[in-house]
Amino acid sequence: MSNVFYRSSKPYPVAVRGEGVYLYDSAGKRYLDGSSGALVANIGHGRREVGEAMAAQAARLPFVHGSQFSSDILEEYAARLAQFCGMPEARFWAVSGGSEATESAIKLARQYQKERGEGGRYKIVTRVPSYHGASLGSLAASGMGARRELYTPLMRPEAWPKLPKPDANRDGAEDAEQLRALLEREGPDTVAAFMAEPVVGASDAALAPADGYYQRIRQICDEYGVLFIADEVMCGMGRCGSALAVSQWGGVQPDIVVLGKGLAAGYAPLAGVLVTRQIYDTLMDGSGAFMHGFTYAGHPVSVAAGLSVLDIVEREGLVQAAQERGTQLLQGLRELQAQFPQMLTVRGTGLLLGVVLGDPVTGQSFQTPGMAARVGTEAMRRGLVTYPGSGADDGKRGDHLLLGPPLSITGEEVEELLAVLGEALGAAFSGQT
Ligand SMILES: Cc1ncc(COP(=O)(O)O)c(C=O)c1O
Repeated sequence: MSNVFYRSSKPYPVAVRGEGVYLYDSAGKRYLDGSSGALVANIGHGRREVGEAMAAQAARLPFVHGSQFSSDILEEYAARLAQFCGMPEARFWAVSGGSEATESAIKLARQYQKERGEGGRYKIVTRVPSYHGASLGSLAASGMGARRELYTPLMRPEAWPKLPKPDANRDGAEDAEQLRALLEREGPDTVAAFMAEPVVGASDAALAPADGYYQRIRQICDEYGVLFIADEVMCGMGRCGSALAVSQWGGVQPDIVVLGKGLAAGYAPLAGVLVTRQIYDTLMDGSGAFMHGFTYAGHPVSVAAGLSVLDIVEREGLVQAAQERGTQLLQGLRELQAQFPQMLTVRGTGLLLGVVLGDPVTGQSFQTPGMAARVGTEAMRRGLVTYPGSGADDGKRGDHLLLGPPLSITGEEVEELLAVLGEALGAAFSGQT
């Protein structure tokens, strides 16, 4: 009998140890972490160096409250992170998780607009599908029917207008013009910000728009006085083969970048937002404070983990590695696709890769709960962790798998991942489990 409140009624193996791309359970079984948990463990598991940095920080200064102190470790980290992300002038607001970070970005956009004399702007435009977090604000921002439906009575729909997803096969700039049309419909002076995942994660398996899309989004946001928030919780921190994914669209610079997951790569809860100097100054020269805060924001031990992870990412060239191993994994997935036509679409950027599963005869993706979960179960049975998802088409239909091993994965380990995935796909599609 366990006292743990599990996420669902399925049985969970009990993990006891992690090393590199592998996790081990209490029965001694080994798993290749093909999805870095939920695209978190960017540097792999069990790095002593990070644990030691955290222990040293906990012994020296475990906690200060953000309303009373900054800390030397936070000052150092903010400077390093801003540099890494190519936003050297930016200010960093640190929190504990991705939902807190998107929530912070949303509130910041609203306060910024108010303080610059645009108090009528409060709406946050996002896309369907998208996932921005589980807290009520970030969930209201999310275009993910299945996770949202139960809670819609607690939300005010008119505050969260939704744009359709981009179409990778369409001209990027033309596709982005949908935002202009939506702003005109809503009344541009009611909109505070547009928020999007540059490369979509859990809700639509590594979907990315064509070149030109974010360049035009940037232009439209500037024209209409709307902030552009890039939610890079999943796709940022090198995962897509560049420090920030959005920079792959002609070097576009958002006003606010939301980071999480890979920031401390699972060694500690750490997330946050990078904000342009202009937004920061507007608040500080105006009311003088951000009307928002969490007790554990900027926790020194989490920040020490983040700094140590960033050291490793830079020292080991993991951003470049994400490109190289990503190309290898994508190529291998395309080879599997030739064998399994149920893999309707294979796509991705760097080591954020997605497979949409469906019926090759009709071209329709499978219905939830369906094949992705089955493939995920078959993979787990064979010692491979993947991240199945669903609902990309209409909140229900649209089974997909996300793959995204640690950026430190070797070429041999990529081949092992592909071999086990091939077996799992074969078992799931033939129904012989
Ligand atoms: C793009 C994106 N934003 C926000 C979140 C929420 O982060 P967290 O689960 O750490 O609260 C996620 C989590 O999957 C995400 O992928």
